[in-house]
Amino acid sequence: MYTEQVMDHFTNPRNVGEIENADGIGEVGNAKCGDIMKMYIKVDNDVITDVKFKTFGCGSAIATSSIATEMIKGKTIPEALELSNKAVVEALGGLPTHKIHCSVLAEQSIKAAIADYYKKQGIDPEPIVGKVPDCEDGHCH
Ligand code: FES
Repeated sequence: MYTEQVMDHFTNPRNVGEIENADGIGEVGNAKCGDIMKMYIKVDNDVITDVKFKTFGCGSAIATSSIATEMIKGKTIPEALELSNKAVVEALGGLPTHKIHCSVLAEQSIKAAIADYYKKQGIDPEPIVGKVPDCEDGHCH
């Protein structure tokens, strides 16, 4: 049911944890299952130099976030914003249909972390990042 890449990233997830003094922190909840994902980024000169995640989500959420962090590390913010959950699922060689919603957590938490980064710089993130559902809207609980 799961590809080798999914099993690899699930059993040996990359970039798990938190970043102290992160430049941006994004926390999103999955409207479908109620699971939560927290993403931390470190940014230097518009480049994401480090990224870590923590999740209460399922195995598919762990695998998609793990590979998503690898895909954005070292990339510029505009490049990271282009990462879609579809691209993440493709990189994993696919997910069962009923698990696709889990991959949305990775994409949205990255966007939320970037939005938080802009907010911390005093920049309105919405024109750049778009509307990111955040926990303050009660999305996570
Ligand atoms: Fe909630 Fe997968 S079932 S993230």
